[in-house]
Amino acid sequence: MSAITQKDGPVAVTGVSGFTGGHMVRELSLQGYHVRACLRDSESWRGQDAINYLQTLPNVEIVDGCDLFEAGSYHQAFAGCSSVFHIATVSSNSLTTQPKGSGDVSTDVYDGLVKGTQNVVDAINASKTVKRLLYTSSTSAMFNAKMADPEYHWTETDWANDGVSEEYWKSPAASYNRGKVETENLIYKAGADSQGQWDAVSFISGMICGRVLFKAQLGQWTKQIGRIAAGLEVNWPTPNNVYYDMIDVRDLVKAHRLAAESTVDHINSHGGPRYLLHGCGERSVMSLGEDIPEAIERYFPGYKMGTANNGAQADDGNPPWRNGNHSSDKAKELLGATIRPVEETIRDLVESQIELGLIKPILK
Ligand SMILES: NC(=O)c1ccc[n+]([C@@H]2O[C@H](COP(=O)([O-])OP(=O)(O)OC[C@H]3O[C@@H](n4cnc5c(N)ncnc54)[C@H](OP(=O)(O)O)[C@@H]3O)[C@@H](O)[C@H]2O)c1
Repeated sequence: MSAITQKDGPVAVTGVSGFTGGHMVRELSLQGYHVRACLRDSESWRGQDAINYLQTLPNVEIVDGCDLFEAGSYHQAFAGCSSVFHIATVSSNSLTTQPKGSGDVSTDVYDGLVKGTQNVVDAINASKTVKRLLYTSSTSAMFNAKMADPEYHWTETDWANDGVSEEYWKSPAASYNRGKVETENLIYKAGADSQGQWDAVSFISGMICGRVLFKAQLGQWTKQIGRIAAGLEVNWPTPNNVYYDMIDVRDLVKAHRLAAESTVDHINSHGGPRYLLHGCGERSVMSLGEDIPEAIERYFPGYKMGTANNGAQADDGNPPWRNGNHSSDKAKELLGATIRPVEETIRDLVESQIELGLIKPILK
């Protein structure tokens, strides 16, 4: 039986200076776990910022020097642990800060996923104590050519490589999607090969948003929603109005913990040991240009809102892609996962950025 409790020993989290990793440590600490927080570099500003926050939490032990590109660097952190929450990735915040990477961004993204996770798996096998690996995957491992059908209903049975051309799949543009798909397959196989020592569960996550705990966590979508609240134009990865398919980071990390503690037969469930987590508060997708400013304005009526290219056109001149036919039903039914209203996610994201001094809203 791979389900864990607080009594089974420490648990390890990778990528703790990041948004999801920092929240994962918080969730586990507040639930009474002893947490080994795997940090890459305690001397970087992000590392320092994370340490300052993580040290305020009970029973958190920081393990420095855990680098996805360095074989053996997770062994000490995982020794004696009951489970591993693998969240670290070469992300937009760390694309150009990879001292042990190849120097090529798309290679590092892919290798950080596949080779990095192999290093994590090797440390799990070496531990002989880890019973379950919880992995943060992405809708990038799920969305595929069926995106052309606006009525298609996505579930855990969908894989990103279904129906896509070999040429695209092998190209640098697909390094993240391909890396996520291959990483999921790698961990399921490694779990099966461990002959009952451990198993693996993944979370097909939407765009991760919600309360920011410390400054180094800000990036990607959280930064763009903050720009709208600060009266600025969005600027990443495009200045255009796009649809955000969000999940609250607190609901996501709670689902990871629930899966670690669950006695459900994940492997033989619908679509295998994968749980789709998005569709905040049943409102799957919101436009950055209209829906999100409207939600912010409801909570912060005195602030001037920013814009997303003043319209609803994507780079190619077509309306932005939108397909809201998906749900977190499997995670709710099997794990007891809960999903809060997306308005709360947006409110807490803006409020925390104001409190941390990350944005300076402009009065109307
Ligand atoms: N953000 C999203 O909307 C989203 C959506 C779906 C899935 N996901 C997945 O969710 C996970 C967490 O994403 P996030 O957005 O929360 O990440 P994030 O905030 O960008 O944090 C990434 C973490 O990975 C660490 N990291 C980067 N390179 C590393 C390396 N070479 N060795 C060890 N650690 C390294 C970073 O440490 P440093 O501070 O030292 O760089 C940081 O702690 C990832 O697996 C991501 O693919 C994210």
